[in-house]
Formats: sequence, C-alpha cells, structure tokens
Amino acid sequence: MAAALVIVASLCGVRAVRGQTFLILAAGAEPGAGPGVPPDSSVFTPAHRSFLDAVKEYFGIQSTPVQPIAFTHKIHLQNGLQCTNCHAGVTQGPNAGYPSITFCMACHQAIAADKPEIKKLTAYAANGQEPPWQRVYWFYPTAHVRFQHAPHIRNDIACEQCHGDLAQQTVAVKTKNLNMNFCLTCHKAKGVSVDCMTCHY
Ligand code: HEC
Ligand code: HEC
Ligand code: HEC
Ligand code: HEC
Ligand code: HEC
Repeated sequence: MAAALVIVASLCGVRAVRGQTFLILAAGAEPGAGPGVPPDSSVFTPAHRSFLDAVKEYFGIQSTPVQPIAFTHKIHLQNGLQCTNCHAGVTQGPNAGYPSITFCMACHQAIAADKPEIKKLTAYAANGQEPPWQRVYWFYPTAHVRFQHAPHIRNDIACEQCHGDLAQQTVAVKTKNLNMNFCLTCHKAKGVSVDCMTCHY
C-alpha cells in the first residue's frame, strides 16, 4: 500500500507531494511502525520526528532543558569570573560558545573535587568528553532566524537585556521570550535595520 502511494505521489508532481505525504504517513502507521515513527523512505522525509513535535513547533513551545551537570552561574559570578571568560565568542561572531571542559578542570582538579557534581565533571574529562549542555535559547530552524552576538556587544547591549540576570541563576533559565517583536522594538528604537533580510535568511 505504501509503495503504491509513493508511485502515485511521484506521478502527481511536486505540488501534490505535501498531501500525499500524509497518506503515506498513515499507511506507514500499520503494524510494525509505532506512533510517531516516520515511514522508511528516503524520498519523503517528514520535517518532524513525531506529530507532537510538529504541534509544539506550531505553537512555538520549547521544553525546559535538563543540564547534565548542575552548573551554577551565581557561584562563579560571585567568585569574580566574567561572562566573557566562559562565553568568549560573543565579541567575535554570531555564537557566544561554551567553555571547554579543560577550562573547568583548571580549577576543579582541586576545587570542590569531592562534590558529586564535580565528580560527574571529572568523569566527562577522563573520557575526553564535553558535558552535553542543552540549549536554552534557540529558534526553530523553520523560522530561518539569523542572530549575531558581536554587533550587539559592540554596541553595549548588556547580556541581561536578552538573558536576564545570570547572577541570580544557577543553570541558565529562559527568562525572556526573544520573539520577533522583542527584536523589532529595540531595532526601531535604536534606528537599526528592520529589513526582513537583516534577521532572516
Ligand atoms: C540582543 C539580544 C542578546 C544579547 C545582548 C545577548 N544575547 Fe546571547 N543569545 C541571544 C539569542 C537570540 C540567542 C539564540 C541564538 C540562536 O539560537 O541563533 C543567544 C544565545 C546565547 C548562548 C547559547 C548559544 C551560543 O551563542 O553559543 C549563549 C551562551 C549566550 N547567548 C550568551 C550571551 C552572553 C554571555 C551575552 C553578553 C556578553 C549575550 N549572550 C548577549 C540574544 C542575545
Ligand atoms: C576560576 C575557577 C573556576 C572555574 C574555571 C570553574 N569553576 Fe566551578 N567553581 C569554582 C568555585 C570557587 C566554586 C565554589 C566551590 C565551593 O563552594 O566549594 C565552584 C563551584 C562549582 C559547582 C558547584 C559544586 C557544588 O556542588 O557545590 C559546579 C557544579 C561547578 N563549579 C562547575 C563548573 C563547570 C562546569 C565549569 C566549567 C564550565 C567550572 N565550574 C569552572 C571555581 C571555578
Ligand atoms: C564559569 C563559566 C561561566 C560563566 C562565568 C558564565 N557562564 Fe553562562 N554558561 C556556562 C555553562 C557551563 C553553560 C551551560 C549550562 C547552562 O545552561 O547553565 C552556560 C549557559 C549560559 C546561557 C544559556 C545558553 C543557551 O544554551 O542558550 C546563557 C544565556 C549564559 N550562559 C549567559 C551568561 C552570562 C550573561 C554570563 C555573565 C553574566 C555568564 N553566562 C557567565 C558557563 C559560564
Ligand atoms: C536592546 C536592543 C536590541 C535588541 C533587543 C536586538 N537588537 Fe539586533 N541590533 C541592535 C544593535 C544596536 C545592532 C547594531 C547595529 C550596528 O552595528 O549598526 C544590532 C544588530 C543586529 C544584527 C546585525 C545587523 C547587520 O547589519 O549586520 C542582526 C542580525 C540583529 N541585530 C538581529 C537581532 C535579532 C534576531 C534580535 C532578537 C532576537 C535582536 N537583534 C535584538 C540592537 C538590538
Ligand atoms: C530584528 C530581527 C527581525 C526582523 C527585522 C524580522 N524578523 Fe521575523 N522573526 C524574528 C525572530 C527572532 C523570529 C522568531 C521568533 C520566535 O521563534 O518566537 C521571527 C519570526 C518570523 C516569522 C515566523 C516564522 C516561524 O516559522 O515561526 C515570520 C513569518 C517572520 N518572522 C517574517 C518576517 C518578515 C516578513 C520580516 C520583514 C518585514 C521580518 N520577519 C523581519 C526576527 C526578525
């Protein structure tokens, strides 16, 4: 049944493909394929792993990330570290970046080495792995947003304006909804380009 539909779809041409994909998905959901498992087809790749993912994206829902280590911004900022010590990319280009585990271990080889969270960190280091930090601020790829840190930092826009006060956070928490209106309000106020292509590709 699925194979027949693939042939029908390919005969119907590009414009019909979207509708046909749904039929093939339904056909694929026969015995064997569990809920949300896309049909085994290299031609029709559904954009979402599951129907739930598609619904979440439609409503712009992002789940709260769970970090591999209970990192704390508060304590490190109290100990005099600066944002740019750990997120060195902000002044140079699009991405802020994350500190390497080598940087963490320069202190934690000795500091708090007996604490459970630091033991987890040490274990990653021993395996030559970076902790798999989960993204907190991000856009769905379908929004095609292009963001760059460097021009904002050069113009003295504080991290806090977009990320809230990290000195009050342990792991980073999404305190601001960086939606299009948020970006546009400031761009308009500061006379920065609001051309669609400034932020979209
Ligand atoms: C004008 C708003 C804005 C300012 C100011 C800003 N950020 Fe961001 N930041 C963002 C957005 C938007 C994203 C998500 C970008 C994406 O997914 O493409 C992000 C992502 C990040 C990330 C994770 C992804 C990455 O880029 O590596 C880190 C870390 C980060 N910001 C740190 C900082 C720090 C530190 C500062 C201050 C020095 C700062 N940001 C200032 C808007 C801002
Ligand atoms: C410049 C030194 C320094 C660097 C670099 C550093 N830390 Fe720390 N870290 C500290 C100090 C000091 C404390 C507080 C220790 C205490 O309370 O006994 C701390 C505390 C912690 C704690 C809390 C431990 C606990 O359970 O009480 C975690 C988790 C942690 N650091 C993770 C990291 C990670 C991950 C990195 C790299 C991204 C990192 N640290 C980089 C100095 C550093
Ligand atoms: C000692 C290193 C360290 C310092 C100093 C530090 N950060 Fe972080 N930051 C991290 C680590 C590790 C993560 C990943 C874990 C998490 O999300 O909290 C992170 C995550 C973030 C994120 C979430 C990135 C994402 O995935 O979207 C933002 C935003 C951020 N930091 C901003 C800041 C700002 C602003 C400052 C200064 C006020 C700062 N950080 C200082 C280590 C640091
Ligand atoms: C608080 C003010 C403010 C906010 C919020 C803000 N911007 Fe900006 N943005 C600026 C300023 C100032 C510049 C620098 C313009 C320059 O250098 O001429 C800039 C520059 C940019 C540039 C580079 C433009 C170029 O010509 O190279 C991009 C891309 C951009 N912003 C995207 C965004 C996006 C996406 C958001 C929302 C996630 C955002 N901005 C939020 C103030 C802001
Ligand atoms: C200053 C930056 C900026 C400018 C300029 C801008 N956008 Fe956006 N736009 C964004 C951001 C950021 C998002 C993502 C918001 C989110 O995910 O909540 C977005 C989302 C969108 C979306 C929704 C996409 C989706 O799938 O969620 C559309 C459509 C859109 N923009 C169209 C436009 C058009 C058309 C223009 C020009 C008239 C424009 N934008 C100018 C920043 C900008």
